Amino acid sequence: MIINGSEYRSVWWEHGRLQAIDQNKLPFEFAIAAFTDFQTVAEAIRNMTVRGAPAIGAAGAFGLALAAQSAPDDKFRTHLRKAHDVLIAARPTAVDLVNGVNYVYEQTLKFIPDYVHARQVAVLAANEFANRSSEDCRQLGLAGNAIIPNQARILTHCNAGALATVDWGTALGVIRTAHRKGKELFVYVSETRPRFQGSRLTAFELEQEGIPHAIIADSAAGYYFWKKEIDLVITGADRVCLNGDIANKIGTYEKAVLAKEHKIPFYIAAPLSTFDFGCTRGSEIPIEFRADEELKSVGGVPVANPASPVLNPSFDITPAGFITGIITRKGVFPPREAAQKVQG
Ligand code: MRU
Repeated sequence: MIINGSEYRSVWWEHGRLQAIDQNKLPFEFAIAAFTDFQTVAEAIRNMTVRGAPAIGAAGAFGLALAAQSAPDDKFRTHLRKAHDVLIAARPTAVDLVNGVNYVYEQTLKFIPDYVHARQVAVLAANEFANRSSEDCRQLGLAGNAIIPNQARILTHCNAGALATVDWGTALGVIRTAHRKGKELFVYVSETRPRFQGSRLTAFELEQEGIPHAIIADSAAGYYFWKKEIDLVITGADRVCLNGDIANKIGTYEKAVLAKEHKIPFYIAAPLSTFDFGCTRGSEIPIEFRADEELKSVGGVPVANPASPVLNPSFDITPAGFITGIITRKGVFPPREAAQKVQG
Protein backbone atom coordinates (compact mmCIF):
# COMPACT_ATOMS: atom_id res chain seq x y z
CA MET A 1 0.00 0.00 0.00
CA ILE A 2 1.14 3.56 -0.60
CA ILE A 3 1.22 5.76 2.51
CA ASN A 4 2.35 9.34 2.06
CA GLY A 5 4.02 8.33 -1.20
CA SER A 6 5.97 5.29 0.10
CA GLU A 7 5.18 1.60 -0.33
CA TYR A 8 4.43 -0.40 2.85
CA ARG A 9 3.09 -3.71 4.02
CA SER A 10 1.12 -3.86 7.28
CA VAL A 11 3.64 -6.34 8.76
CA TRP A 12 7.06 -7.42 7.55
CA TRP A 13 10.31 -9.06 8.67
CA GLU A 14 13.39 -6.85 8.77
CA HIS A 15 16.80 -7.34 10.42
CA GLY A 16 15.58 -10.26 12.52
CA ARG A 17 12.54 -8.39 13.83
CA LEU A 18 8.87 -8.11 13.05
CA GLN A 19 7.88 -4.60 12.00
CA ALA A 20 4.28 -3.48 11.88
CA ILE A 21 2.32 -0.33 11.19
CA ASP A 22 0.74 0.70 14.49
CA GLN A 23 -2.95 0.68 13.57
CA ASN A 24 -4.04 2.08 16.92
CA LYS A 25 -2.30 5.37 16.08
CA LEU A 26 -3.71 5.84 12.58
CA PRO A 27 -4.84 8.12 11.02
CA PHE A 28 -3.48 10.70 13.45
CA GLU A 29 0.08 9.38 13.59
CA PHE A 30 1.99 7.07 11.28
CA ALA A 31 4.27 4.93 13.46
CA ILE A 32 6.06 1.63 13.00
CA ALA A 33 6.36 -0.77 15.91
CA ALA A 34 9.15 -3.38 16.13
CA PHE A 35 8.94 -6.74 17.94
CA THR A 36 11.72 -9.06 18.99
CA ASP A 37 9.81 -11.69 20.97
CA PHE A 38 6.59 -13.64 20.57
CA GLN A 39 5.04 -12.34 23.82
CA THR A 40 4.98 -8.75 22.58
CA VAL A 41 3.64 -9.90 19.22
CA ALA A 42 0.79 -11.68 21.03
CA GLU A 43 0.14 -8.51 23.03
CA ALA A 44 0.13 -6.39 19.84
CA ILE A 45 -2.49 -8.73 18.38
CA ARG A 46 -4.57 -8.59 21.59
CA ASN A 47 -4.45 -4.79 21.84
CA MET A 48 -4.99 -4.40 18.08
CA THR A 49 -1.77 -2.63 17.21
CA VAL A 50 -1.99 -5.22 14.42
CA ARG A 51 -5.54 -6.17 13.47
CA GLY A 52 -7.56 -7.59 10.59
CA ALA A 53 -7.72 -11.32 9.94
CA PRO A 54 -4.95 -11.84 7.35
CA ALA A 55 -2.69 -9.28 9.06
CA ILE A 56 -2.88 -11.05 12.42
CA GLY A 57 -2.33 -14.36 10.59
CA ALA A 58 0.96 -13.04 9.20
CA ALA A 59 1.90 -11.38 12.52
CA GLY A 60 1.30 -14.70 14.30
CA ALA A 61 3.48 -16.48 11.72
CA PHE A 62 6.31 -13.98 12.30
CA GLY A 63 5.73 -14.23 16.06
CA LEU A 64 6.42 -17.94 15.90
CA ALA A 65 9.51 -17.29 13.77
CA LEU A 66 10.74 -14.99 16.56
CA ALA A 67 10.09 -17.72 19.12
CA ALA A 68 12.19 -20.14 17.06
CA GLN A 69 15.13 -17.70 17.06
CA SER A 70 15.24 -17.53 20.85
CA ALA A 71 14.38 -21.18 21.62
CA PRO A 72 17.32 -23.07 23.17
CA ASP A 73 18.19 -26.35 21.40
CA ASP A 74 17.39 -28.48 24.46
CA LYS A 75 13.93 -26.93 24.89
CA PHE A 76 13.20 -26.07 21.29
CA ARG A 77 10.01 -28.10 20.93
CA THR A 78 8.42 -27.00 24.25
CA HIS A 79 9.35 -23.35 23.69
CA LEU A 80 7.83 -23.43 20.22
CA ARG A 81 4.67 -25.15 21.47
CA LYS A 82 4.23 -22.55 24.20
CA ALA A 83 4.65 -19.70 21.71
CA HIS A 84 2.21 -21.42 19.35
CA ASP A 85 -0.44 -21.63 22.08
CA VAL A 86 0.07 -18.06 23.34
CA LEU A 87 -0.11 -16.58 19.84
CA ILE A 88 -3.20 -18.52 18.82
CA ALA A 89 -4.97 -17.51 22.02
CA ALA A 90 -4.39 -13.80 21.38
CA ARG A 91 -7.68 -13.42 19.46
CA PRO A 92 -10.23 -16.20 18.90
CA THR A 93 -12.38 -15.38 15.86
CA ALA A 94 -10.08 -14.95 12.85
CA VAL A 95 -8.93 -18.38 11.70
CA ASP A 96 -6.06 -16.76 9.78
CA LEU A 97 -4.19 -16.50 13.08
CA VAL A 98 -4.45 -20.26 13.63
CA ASN A 99 -3.49 -20.93 10.00
CA GLY A 100 -0.46 -18.61 10.07
CA VAL A 101 0.93 -19.92 13.36
CA ASN A 102 0.26 -23.57 12.46
CA TYR A 103 1.97 -23.21 9.09
CA VAL A 104 5.23 -21.95 10.58
CA TYR A 105 5.01 -24.45 13.47
CA GLU A 106 4.63 -27.44 11.17
CA GLN A 107 7.33 -26.35 8.72
CA THR A 108 9.80 -25.65 11.54
CA LEU A 109 9.27 -28.93 13.40
CA LYS A 110 10.15 -30.90 10.26
CA PHE A 111 13.80 -29.82 10.65
CA ILE A 112 14.35 -30.84 14.28
CA PRO A 113 17.01 -31.82 15.44
CA ASP A 114 18.79 -29.56 12.92
CA TYR A 115 18.05 -26.46 15.03
CA VAL A 116 20.10 -24.04 12.94
CA HIS A 117 18.19 -25.02 9.86
CA ALA A 118 14.85 -25.07 11.78
CA ARG A 119 15.34 -21.44 12.84
CA GLN A 120 16.02 -20.39 9.25
CA VAL A 121 13.02 -22.33 8.00
CA ALA A 122 10.76 -20.61 10.56
CA VAL A 123 11.58 -17.20 9.04
CA LEU A 124 11.29 -18.50 5.50
CA ALA A 125 7.91 -20.08 6.26
CA ALA A 126 6.57 -16.90 7.88
CA ASN A 127 7.68 -14.84 4.87
CA GLU A 128 6.17 -17.40 2.54
CA PHE A 129 2.84 -17.22 4.42
CA ALA A 130 2.85 -13.41 4.26
CA ASN A 131 3.81 -13.31 0.56
CA ARG A 132 1.12 -15.82 -0.33
CA SER A 133 -1.46 -13.82 1.63
CA SER A 134 -0.51 -10.62 -0.18
CA GLU A 135 -0.64 -12.32 -3.58
CA ASP A 136 -3.98 -13.89 -2.69
CA CYS A 137 -5.45 -10.43 -2.10
CA ARG A 138 -4.16 -9.12 -5.43
CA GLN A 139 -5.72 -12.07 -7.22
CA LEU A 140 -9.07 -11.76 -5.47
CA GLY A 141 -9.01 -8.05 -6.32
CA LEU A 142 -8.85 -8.98 -9.99
CA ALA A 143 -11.60 -11.59 -9.63
CA GLY A 144 -13.81 -9.18 -7.72
CA ASN A 145 -13.32 -6.36 -10.19
CA ALA A 146 -15.62 -8.28 -12.56
CA ILE A 147 -18.62 -7.74 -10.28
CA ILE A 148 -18.09 -3.99 -9.82
CA PRO A 149 -20.03 -1.88 -12.30
CA ASN A 150 -18.69 1.49 -13.35
CA GLN A 151 -20.09 4.25 -11.13
CA ALA A 152 -20.93 1.77 -8.37
CA ARG A 153 -21.85 3.13 -4.96
CA ILE A 154 -20.44 0.61 -2.52
CA LEU A 155 -21.01 0.17 1.21
CA THR A 156 -18.21 -1.44 3.22
CA HIS A 157 -17.89 -2.09 6.93
CA CYS A 158 -14.87 -2.20 9.27
CA ASN A 159 -11.45 -2.12 7.61
CA ALA A 160 -10.76 -4.86 5.10
CA GLY A 161 -7.95 -2.99 3.41
CA ALA A 162 -4.20 -3.30 3.08
CA LEU A 163 -3.84 -2.57 6.79
CA ALA A 164 -6.05 -5.53 7.68
CA THR A 165 -4.12 -7.84 5.36
CA VAL A 166 -0.44 -8.07 4.54
CA ASP A 167 -1.07 -5.80 1.58
CA TRP A 168 -3.72 -4.69 -0.92
CA GLY A 169 -6.80 -5.73 1.10
CA THR A 170 -9.80 -7.99 0.62
CA ALA A 171 -12.98 -5.88 0.28
CA LEU A 172 -10.85 -2.77 -0.24
CA GLY A 173 -8.56 -4.83 -2.48
CA VAL A 174 -11.50 -5.32 -4.86
CA ILE A 175 -12.38 -1.62 -4.63
CA ARG A 176 -8.71 -0.62 -5.12
CA THR A 177 -8.42 -2.83 -8.20
CA ALA A 178 -11.64 -1.47 -9.74
CA HIS A 179 -10.48 2.10 -9.07
CA ARG A 180 -7.06 1.49 -10.59
CA LYS A 181 -8.76 -0.03 -13.64
CA GLY A 182 -10.42 3.34 -14.16
CA LYS A 183 -13.89 2.76 -12.71
CA GLU A 184 -15.64 5.65 -11.04
CA LEU A 185 -16.69 4.60 -7.55
CA PHE A 186 -18.12 6.04 -4.39
CA VAL A 187 -17.65 4.24 -1.08
CA TYR A 188 -19.87 4.56 1.99
CA VAL A 189 -17.64 3.83 4.99
CA SER A 190 -19.52 2.84 8.12
CA GLU A 191 -17.65 4.12 11.14
CA THR A 192 -17.55 0.68 12.88
CA ARG A 193 -18.19 1.30 16.54
CA PRO A 194 -16.66 0.79 19.01
CA ARG A 195 -13.10 0.94 17.60
CA PHE A 196 -13.80 2.97 14.46
CA GLN A 197 -11.85 0.83 12.01
CA GLY A 198 -14.07 2.28 9.25
CA SER A 199 -13.79 5.97 10.03
CA ARG A 200 -10.10 5.78 11.03
CA LEU A 201 -8.53 3.13 8.81
CA THR A 202 -10.76 2.53 5.78
CA ALA A 203 -11.28 6.25 5.29
CA PHE A 204 -7.49 6.76 5.59
CA GLU A 205 -6.76 4.09 2.98
CA LEU A 206 -9.39 5.43 0.58
CA GLU A 207 -8.04 8.93 0.94
CA GLN A 208 -4.46 7.72 0.30
CA GLU A 209 -5.71 5.93 -2.82
CA GLY A 210 -7.77 8.90 -4.01
CA ILE A 211 -11.08 7.01 -3.99
CA PRO A 212 -14.17 9.16 -3.40
CA HIS A 213 -15.87 8.20 -0.15
CA ALA A 214 -17.79 9.41 2.88
CA ILE A 215 -17.91 8.19 6.46
CA ILE A 216 -21.40 7.38 7.76
CA ALA A 217 -22.57 6.48 11.23
CA ASP A 218 -23.15 2.73 11.57
CA SER A 219 -26.83 3.44 12.08
CA ALA A 220 -27.06 5.49 8.83
CA ALA A 221 -26.71 2.50 6.50
CA GLY A 222 -30.47 1.85 6.41
CA TYR A 223 -31.13 5.42 5.33
CA TYR A 224 -28.85 5.08 2.31
CA PHE A 225 -30.39 1.73 1.33
CA TRP A 226 -33.82 3.34 1.58
CA LYS A 227 -32.63 6.22 -0.60
CA LYS A 228 -31.46 3.63 -3.19
CA GLU A 229 -27.96 5.06 -3.06
CA ILE A 230 -26.15 1.78 -2.41
CA ASP A 231 -25.56 -0.54 -5.39
CA LEU A 232 -23.64 -3.25 -3.60
CA VAL A 233 -22.00 -4.18 -0.30
CA ILE A 234 -18.55 -5.74 0.09
CA THR A 235 -16.94 -6.66 3.38
CA GLY A 236 -14.12 -8.94 4.45
CA ALA A 237 -14.41 -11.94 6.77
CA ASP A 238 -12.64 -13.37 9.78
CA ARG A 239 -13.73 -16.93 9.09
CA VAL A 240 -15.56 -18.65 6.26
CA CYS A 241 -17.23 -22.00 7.03
CA LEU A 242 -17.85 -24.97 4.77
CA ASN A 243 -21.55 -24.07 4.42
CA GLY A 244 -20.73 -20.48 3.42
CA ASP A 245 -21.62 -18.84 6.75
CA ILE A 246 -19.07 -16.19 7.68
CA ALA A 247 -17.93 -14.22 10.74
CA ASN A 248 -16.99 -10.57 10.34
CA LYS A 249 -16.94 -7.37 12.37
CA ILE A 250 -19.99 -6.74 14.52
CA GLY A 251 -22.59 -4.96 12.40
CA THR A 252 -21.90 -6.94 9.24
CA TYR A 253 -24.98 -9.12 9.67
CA GLU A 254 -27.34 -6.15 9.88
CA LYS A 255 -25.88 -4.74 6.65
CA ALA A 256 -26.51 -8.14 5.02
CA VAL A 257 -30.12 -8.17 6.23
CA LEU A 258 -30.64 -4.64 4.88
CA ALA A 259 -29.08 -5.63 1.55
CA LYS A 260 -31.37 -8.64 1.21
CA GLU A 261 -34.46 -6.59 2.10
CA HIS A 262 -33.50 -4.02 -0.54
CA LYS A 263 -32.45 -6.67 -3.11
CA ILE A 264 -28.90 -5.33 -3.21
CA PRO A 265 -25.98 -7.77 -3.75
CA PHE A 266 -23.90 -8.50 -0.65
CA TYR A 267 -20.37 -9.86 -1.23
CA ILE A 268 -17.66 -11.18 1.04
CA ALA A 269 -14.02 -11.04 -0.08
CA ALA A 270 -11.69 -13.58 1.53
CA PRO A 271 -8.23 -15.05 0.94
CA LEU A 272 -7.50 -18.75 1.43
CA SER A 273 -6.18 -18.16 4.97
CA THR A 274 -9.69 -17.08 6.09
CA PHE A 275 -11.34 -20.38 5.16
CA ASP A 276 -11.84 -22.87 7.99
CA PHE A 277 -12.23 -26.29 6.41
CA GLY A 278 -12.94 -27.77 9.84
CA CYS A 279 -15.91 -25.51 10.52
CA THR A 280 -19.22 -26.73 9.20
CA ARG A 281 -21.41 -23.74 10.14
CA GLY A 282 -21.34 -20.28 11.65
CA SER A 283 -22.60 -21.34 15.07
CA GLU A 284 -19.26 -23.16 15.59
CA ILE A 285 -17.21 -19.95 15.26
CA PRO A 286 -15.90 -18.57 18.57
CA ILE A 287 -16.99 -14.95 18.94
CA GLU A 288 -14.62 -12.60 20.72
CA PHE A 289 -16.08 -10.36 23.42
CA ARG A 290 -13.91 -7.36 24.18
CA ALA A 291 -13.48 -5.05 27.15
CA ASP A 292 -16.39 -2.93 28.49
CA GLU A 293 -14.12 0.09 28.23
CA GLU A 294 -14.36 0.04 24.41
CA LEU A 295 -18.04 0.97 24.69
CA LYS A 296 -17.92 3.10 27.78
CA SER A 297 -15.47 5.70 26.57
CA VAL A 298 -14.23 7.28 23.35
CA GLY A 299 -10.65 8.51 23.34
CA GLY A 300 -10.61 8.31 27.14
CA VAL A 301 -13.77 10.41 27.51
CA PRO A 302 -16.64 8.59 29.28
CA VAL A 303 -19.73 8.20 27.09
CA ALA A 304 -21.83 5.72 29.08
CA ASN A 305 -23.53 5.39 32.42
CA PRO A 306 -20.64 4.16 34.62
CA ALA A 307 -22.67 1.65 36.65
CA SER A 308 -24.32 -0.11 33.70
CA PRO A 309 -23.01 -3.46 32.49
CA VAL A 310 -21.84 -3.85 28.89
CA LEU A 311 -22.11 -6.52 26.21
CA ASN A 312 -19.42 -6.08 23.59
CA PRO A 313 -19.30 -8.86 20.97
CA SER A 314 -16.63 -7.94 18.42
CA PHE A 315 -17.94 -10.11 15.57
CA ASP A 316 -21.22 -11.48 14.26
CA ILE A 317 -22.24 -14.28 11.93
CA THR A 318 -23.77 -13.68 8.53
CA PRO A 319 -25.50 -16.84 7.31
CA ALA A 320 -24.81 -18.01 3.74
CA GLY A 321 -28.40 -17.21 2.73
CA PHE A 322 -27.64 -13.49 3.01
CA ILE A 323 -24.49 -13.61 0.89
CA THR A 324 -24.62 -13.17 -2.89
CA GLY A 325 -21.08 -14.39 -3.50
CA ILE A 326 -17.70 -14.97 -1.91
CA ILE A 327 -14.87 -13.31 -3.82
CA THR A 328 -11.71 -15.44 -3.81
CA ARG A 329 -8.52 -15.64 -5.85
CA LYS A 330 -10.12 -18.39 -7.90
CA GLY A 331 -13.27 -16.47 -8.73
CA VAL A 332 -16.57 -15.36 -7.22
CA PHE A 333 -18.61 -18.29 -5.93
CA PRO A 334 -22.01 -18.87 -4.33
CA PRO A 335 -21.28 -19.03 -0.59
CA ARG A 336 -22.14 -22.71 -0.20
CA GLU A 337 -19.65 -23.68 -2.94
CA ALA A 338 -16.80 -21.34 -2.03
CA ALA A 339 -14.88 -23.56 0.42
CA GLN A 340 -14.90 -26.48 -2.00
CA LYS A 341 -13.85 -24.29 -4.93
CA VAL A 342 -10.90 -22.62 -3.18
CA GLN A 343 -9.64 -25.95 -1.84
CA GLY A 344 -9.75 -27.71 -5.20
O1 MRU B 1 -11.40 -6.55 15.15
P1 MRU B 1 -10.71 -6.39 13.83
O2 MRU B 1 -10.48 -4.97 13.45
O3 MRU B 1 -9.48 -7.24 13.72
O4 MRU B 1 -11.76 -6.98 12.79
C1 MRU B 1 -11.42 -7.01 11.44
C2 MRU B 1 -12.55 -7.38 10.57
O5 MRU B 1 -13.62 -7.75 11.00
C3 MRU B 1 -12.28 -7.35 9.11
O6 MRU B 1 -13.42 -7.01 8.39
C4 MRU B 1 -11.82 -8.75 8.70
O7 MRU B 1 -10.70 -9.12 9.43
C5 MRU B 1 -11.55 -8.86 7.27
S1 MRU B 1 -10.07 -8.03 6.90
C6 MRU B 1 -9.43 -8.39 5.50
